[in-house]
Amino acid sequence: MRNVIVTGGAGFIGSNFILYELEKDPDIFIVNVDKLTYAGNLENLKSVENDPRYVFRQLDICDAEEIAKLFDEYDIDTVINFAAESHVDRSIEDPMVFIRTNVLGTATLLNIAKEKWSDGKGGFKEGVRYLQVSTDEVYGSLGPEGFFREDTPLDPHSPYSASKASADMITKSYYDTFKMPINITRCSNNYGPYQFPEKLIPLMINNCLNHKDLPVYGDGLQIRDWLYVEDHCKAIDLVVRNGVVGQVYNIGGHNERTNLFIVNSVISYIHDHKDESVDDGLIKHVTDRKGHDRRYGIDPQKIKDALGWYPETPFERGIVKTIEWYLNNEEWIEDVVSGEYQKYYESMYDNR
Ligand code: NAD
Ligand code: DAU
Repeated sequence: MRNVIVTGGAGFIGSNFILYELEKDPDIFIVNVDKLTYAGNLENLKSVENDPRYVFRQLDICDAEEIAKLFDEYDIDTVINFAAESHVDRSIEDPMVFIRTNVLGTATLLNIAKEKWSDGKGGFKEGVRYLQVSTDEVYGSLGPEGFFREDTPLDPHSPYSASKASADMITKSYYDTFKMPINITRCSNNYGPYQFPEKLIPLMINNCLNHKDLPVYGDGLQIRDWLYVEDHCKAIDLVVRNGVVGQVYNIGGHNERTNLFIVNSVISYIHDHKDESVDDGLIKHVTDRKGHDRRYGIDPQKIKDALGWYPETPFERGIVKTIEWYLNNEEWIEDVVSGEYQKYYESMYDNR
């Protein structure tokens, strides 16, 4: 890959991915295409904004005309689609924006790439690749045993996961029908720097720092499979460069934890290193999420065998790096929790 469109590059995982690639690959050129919704933040990319290998374009991935121009302007050979509405709770309140961005936006990107990468003989130019960044949530919920494999049937439950599953199906259809060189990656829950504090870990860190209740949905014994964001970025890098065309790869590190375990890990670090008055008395069990998936767990054997990927950051190290990042970047949190976030928080958590 040389000239890459990274969509959603101002979001949590997209920012981490751009920083990772610019550090790693001297020959890469990245066009960051991001609409800058509430979740996009160019502060994340301040350190690279003047890098000649990087440009930012504020665009909606549904804007076919403007996106098509970028392919010509920058001779694009790779698209990595991170752009999405990503928060399950918001999808329960307002599904339509999820359908628009996640489904229509993905279809728009695929269609432009298909046209621009045509070799004029019914095939595709050499070396082009489209990667759809997807999620383990498309597989639905697990019981106490077993793991999600790439051949696990899709069974999404929330409007968010249904929109991501739809996007996966459309992406697959461009391979099945046109032999377009695509991949789909399905990753478990990420954590690390720059994650918006609507998600479990940064929300709990921010609330601890402000001595606010820690809202745990239901009994808090739901299980997620946590992966440090840099390990996800490394996996995407491997798939987009070396993945077999048309294949799906699951990404996860066998790191299953209950939500209560995660919340208690945050509490105990902040108690020991920042504020002794923070303790589990702040935990407040609140009304459960509608349709809440009970357990996610990834079987990552395929990407390990095929591409030699493995998760390098154990949870115990990753969670400390993450909490310390937030402690050292209080200004970043203060910026993102001002304005819209306050209204969101009240509507989601007041009287819950
Ligand atoms: P995020 O919400 O932090 O960032 C999403 C980014 O997309 C934001 O910068 C936003 O401005 C941009 N965006 C939204 N709508 C857009 C549009 N119409 N056009 C252009 N840009 C738009 O999300 P994230 O957590 O970084 O997730 C990135 C991708 O990874 C998503 O596709 C998500 O489904 C997937 N994923 C996330 C996780 C996770 O744990 N966060 C795990 C697996 C997969
Ligand atoms: O599994 C991958 C998915 O992980 C991604 O596709 C999504 O984009 C990402 O948002 C994430 O989805 P989750 O719903 O698992 O993440 P979230 O951080 O919202 O919640 C994690 C768990 O914590 C979930 O069981 C709900 C619970 N929770 C969450 C919040 C925000 C609480 O108990 N309290 C809370 O306040």
